[in-house]
Amino acid sequence: MSILSKNRFTITSALPYSNGPLHIGHLAGAYIPGDIFVRFLRLKNKDVVYVCGSDEHGAAITIKAKKEGVTPKEIIDKYNALIKESFEEFGIQFDIYHRTSEQIHHELSQEFFTNLYEKGEFVEKFSEQYYDEEFNQFLADRYIVGTCPHCHSEGAYGDQCEKCGTSLNPTDLINPKSTLSGKTPVLKETKHWYLPLDKYQPWLENWLIEGKKDVLKSNVFGQCQSWLKFGLQPRSMTRDLDWGVDVPLEEAIGKKLYVWLDAPIGYISATKQWALDNRKNWEDYWKTQQNPEEDSTLIHFIGKDNIVFHCIIFPAILHAHGDYILPQNVPANEFLNLEGDKLSTSRNHAVWLHEYLQEFPGKQDELRYVLTSILPETSDSEFTWKDFQARVNNELVAILGNFVNRVMVLSHKYFNGLVSIGSVLTDHDQTILAELEKFPKEIEKSLTQYRFREALSHFMNIGRLGNKYLADEEPWKIYKEDEERVKTVLYVAAQIVANLSLIAQAFLPKTADKLLSMLNLQAQDWNKVGSDSLLENGHKLGESQLLFEKITDEQVAFQLQKLADAKALNVLEATTVEPAKPNISYDDFLKMDIRIGTIIEAEKVAKTKKLLKLKVDTGIDQRTIVSGIAEFFSPEDIVGKQVSILVNLEPRNIKGITSQGMILMAEDTDGRLDFVNPKTSIKEGSSVR
Ligand code: MF3
Ligand code: ZN
Repeated sequence: MSILSKNRFTITSALPYSNGPLHIGHLAGAYIPGDIFVRFLRLKNKDVVYVCGSDEHGAAITIKAKKEGVTPKEIIDKYNALIKESFEEFGIQFDIYHRTSEQIHHELSQEFFTNLYEKGEFVEKFSEQYYDEEFNQFLADRYIVGTCPHCHSEGAYGDQCEKCGTSLNPTDLINPKSTLSGKTPVLKETKHWYLPLDKYQPWLENWLIEGKKDVLKSNVFGQCQSWLKFGLQPRSMTRDLDWGVDVPLEEAIGKKLYVWLDAPIGYISATKQWALDNRKNWEDYWKTQQNPEEDSTLIHFIGKDNIVFHCIIFPAILHAHGDYILPQNVPANEFLNLEGDKLSTSRNHAVWLHEYLQEFPGKQDELRYVLTSILPETSDSEFTWKDFQARVNNELVAILGNFVNRVMVLSHKYFNGLVSIGSVLTDHDQTILAELEKFPKEIEKSLTQYRFREALSHFMNIGRLGNKYLADEEPWKIYKEDEERVKTVLYVAAQIVANLSLIAQAFLPKTADKLLSMLNLQAQDWNKVGSDSLLENGHKLGESQLLFEKITDEQVAFQLQKLADAKALNVLEATTVEPAKPNISYDDFLKMDIRIGTIIEAEKVAKTKKLLKLKVDTGIDQRTIVSGIAEFFSPEDIVGKQVSILVNLEPRNIKGITSQGMILMAEDTDGRLDFVNPKTSIKEGSSVR
């Protein structure tokens, strides 16, 4: 049965951590699909609430704060504002963008904990947990990394391996290391409250595996199946952290709720706040109803790294609490790559949404279009700027824009923008209109199966149909001899444009607005889509507008250069200190005669960039040394400086000058140089050892 038989929907997109800006990977994972789906449901006149917000607890936040040397509160305020603004400008149509740091959320999360606690659902356990003795802190989740016990990849976190998706406990890790000190942690006893996932396993198997094998996407179903096969373990719902929601128990003072307990409850607290602001009843969207037919349909849009939390842990919590609806589906996407490499916040290998919006003002739909075309629905996919350009230029401009433009221009040129039916519809016209009528069902079918790429390609096929129709009929050629026929052709073509405008409301909202205003047509719901008479006989079209512009080679080059610059910077930053050389004996060391001397003259060596010819007073003598420091020091700046000199280096001939010794320099991994010299003035000839 199609979910479109349901009336009420609670739609969520993953709450992004407010510890960094959004990039195109986030959009392609959880937000564009959610937004299209919601827009579609609204066109179907469904009662929908679409919630999101910032996930503001957990180590993701505190680690970032530590790195930047600011408080967690400063981090969440900064990034919450940035994220919220980018979503708004990009046009993701949340009903509310909330925050898990709000009071209403803390209270609801504590209510959940207390509810489960009072029912005796939690298993209380004293256990040994990893502890960083240098930082005096227990190491939960992301504070600890090691080798994944399942796939054996490095860098797995204490709560999850991102390579294979497995959810972990810190003690599962092989060779664990603290991310604070980098040291191997020690075990220390602490008390925590565990959710007995093992106890819920039979229920989960029944609900998920039996009940959802036909609705879950195969990538999601596969992951769930493999966890259940592996056997679920009790999972601690509390943490020894100083940032998060307080555990509402006397004996747990100082402990916080596990971020993956509180975060999904954020969907509910967001809905509560929205209901308060809009005179709605939040329970209609989250609680089971007297008549199960009236239960809201809950759908979570997420990226694949969140599957276990949305398919297993959160449902188990909702189930244990009781009275709550469970997700009907969790259409998780795989990952999006960028220019042949994983998207990475830390390496700055990303297309940041706020930067895109600045660099491509007004081009929200271009990015929406391209990302929708390449959504990683069943496997990872890739964004490249060349492909972005090609899809915008060859599809949006050449197909959609071109078709709409021709219809508008010809209608205005020949008939002052009047749409009229002219002579009778030919067989060809009838065939075209009949084809047009079939599209909405196809699109609807794709969308209800979360096949957004396919849905979008149906939409573009309507544009192709229009272009082909015009090419076949060539109205510009027959205008002189058969004006009535041209009226009819443009009438049919305008109906196609009108359909495009209504369907665009789901995929390309800015474009839809432009089209509607060009057509001088009111926005209408999905019931009207497919109609062959959206524009009445005698309708007057509005002004033509530019729909899309070509993306230039310069724009592509600029973006590629930005990524290359980021990469170059990384290489520089990643360059590690040289490893130590093999040991030498003390006697070997004593062979070097290093003295403090003073530079008394300096000049550039002609025709070289790097070399300076120096005269130095070594205390032993005055001698000439050629030194490769001209890029960092100019002669006038260094005369009078004391330096360390290796005085017994064999004389060498450099550019025709005999160099008698070497000035010792410190060089960092970026190739920057500085002198190795005494802080206070020391007598020339003093030795260094
Ligand atoms: N902040 C999490 C992430 O970025 C997602 C949280 S989704 C929710 O991976 F369910 F917890 F809300
Ligand atoms: Zn793994």
